[in-house]
Amino acid sequence: MSVDLAAWQRDGFLVLPGFLPAADCDALQERAAELVAGYDPGPARTVFSTRDQGHARDRTFRESGDAIRFFFEEEATDQPVPLALNKIGHALHDLDPVFDRVSRRPELAALAGALGLERPLLVQSMYLFKQPHIGGEVGWHQDATYLYTRPSTVTGFWIALDDADRDNGCLVALPGGHRGPLRQRFRRRGEALVSETVDATPWPDTPPVALEAPRGTLVVLHGLLPHASAPNRSGRPRHAYALHVVDGKADYATDNWLQRPNRPPRGFA
Ligand code: FE2
Repeated sequence: MSVDLAAWQRDGFLVLPGFLPAADCDALQERAAELVAGYDPGPARTVFSTRDQGHARDRTFRESGDAIRFFFEEEATDQPVPLALNKIGHALHDLDPVFDRVSRRPELAALAGALGLERPLLVQSMYLFKQPHIGGEVGWHQDATYLYTRPSTVTGFWIALDDADRDNGCLVALPGGHRGPLRQRFRRRGEALVSETVDATPWPDTPPVALEAPRGTLVVLHGLLPHASAPNRSGRPRHAYALHVVDGKADYATDNWLQRPNRPPRGFA
């Protein structure tokens, strides 16, 4: 597979329109809707927020690494469940046959290989809703904060399942920012999950670029690339599917929030 490695090394991201066929976008959206329809939240709604780590103490989050769990928007109050969810995570790719098939497409395996992942392990998947009107912002961060290996190898594969643009909260990134250090780690400390500053270097001064992505576009993100997304204040959803891959050759930190003792992560095969 031909990959613009010069752009990857320069920018820390790739935007590949038309990567996922419409039929596969449909399949993921339909399957997510089925999972949601079969989900009964009961009285407790677990909120996902990147600003407030209140969820950090929540067992649901900590134990979602090898499960399929549902997380609500902060601003969701009286919305019905299908319009109130922030995301489903974090082992869709291993536990659900439809997500498994799309996550392990040969084209994705080939791309991971072309980017230098020698022993790719699919550690985490998320179905991101970014709901109309209430879809929350995701603050500036590096994915290696959450999935730390030595050396850093985590690579994000983010697929637009709806057209993502400036109005409905597409990704934004700081081109070249992946050449800076890892700033923070989100890790286990005993039973708690904590955020810890490991390097106080500010984000680079680079103007952010909006990674607008028509449906089916794959955005590849270097694990150290600073990126974010604005809230969705539009009337349109912005569904996306994100898969995170690390290299099994690197040491996966034993205090990463996501541990999979009962179901070790597998590769693309
Ligand atoms: Fe991210």
